[in-house]
Amino acid sequence: PKKILIDCDPGIDDALALTLAHGCPALDLVGITTVGGNVSLELTTLNALKLREFLGFPSVPVVAGSAGALVASRIDASEVHGFGGLGAAVLPEPRLKATDGHAVDFIVDTLSASPGEISLVAVGPLTNIALAVRREPRITEWARDFTIMGGSYTRGNRTPAAEFNIAADPEAAAIVFGAGWTVNQIGLDVSLTALANGPILDRMRDLGRLGGELLIPSLEFYGMTTAHDGPAVHDALAVAHVADPSLFEFTPGVVDVETAGRFTSGMTVIDFNLRGRVPNANVARSIDVDRFWDLTLSSFAQVEAR
Ligand code: BDR
Ligand code: CA
Repeated sequence: PKKILIDCDPGIDDALALTLAHGCPALDLVGITTVGGNVSLELTTLNALKLREFLGFPSVPVVAGSAGALVASRIDASEVHGFGGLGAAVLPEPRLKATDGHAVDFIVDTLSASPGEISLVAVGPLTNIALAVRREPRITEWARDFTIMGGSYTRGNRTPAAEFNIAADPEAAAIVFGAGWTVNQIGLDVSLTALANGPILDRMRDLGRLGGELLIPSLEFYGMTTAHDGPAVHDALAVAHVADPSLFEFTPGVVDVETAGRFTSGMTVIDFNLRGRVPNANVARSIDVDRFWDLTLSSFAQVEAR
């Protein structure tokens, strides 16, 4: 299996991403780092700890990172994910604590110990990743590949121009896209096509405690706070990309992050017309939604929630 390290801010769709990473036979989850985002760092870390025990991977380290953005004032998405961050899902309090130390050190040390072996995935604001590339630029070579959920080439969700993860820390995103690696970018343009609609929720109802205590209550809540035909499971797509890149079509592009705009701060300005420039991203243009759900639901079925 492919080793995967996930930086996240759980968050309902982050919880699905972690469930997929644990259940998918093609993946080996080696660590979770947390960042303030959808809710505070204290809560995203608590949620990661709760999920670790509920989903059943107690030996995978959870390491807390940055509470707030590099420059921007803190925003959250508790109106979407609920004040606790997991919607209406109520998981048991964790027995085990987070690993001591800081997420940025954990990311650098973990990648440096296994160069070329670990896929790095970021599905929250990019604060930890930006600090990690500043601290040790060689992580851009050591990561086997790097995939984010963030941005869009059409419209935003936090503002008309900006997607939440980029809007929450535009300067961090600018650092990450400028770090010299090729970012696999999965944005709203694609994530809004993979919705947990009624038929998908029905397939989750058979999944025992995982369905009844996590997936259904969190996604039904999420469905009420987002205005589509069902909740988009954004972050799970980034993990699915590591498991099976062939689910997606990508176009190389040059991604710049707007950090100064009055109305457009946090916008990913994406140029597909390279004009001789080296692309800094592979930008997802489409996903095979049916195959994505087959992968996701068959992986969920491997998880024994407790
Ligand atoms: C992204 O923002 C967060 O609210 C979600 O967890 C996801 O990472 C979608 O825009
Ligand atoms: Ca997230």
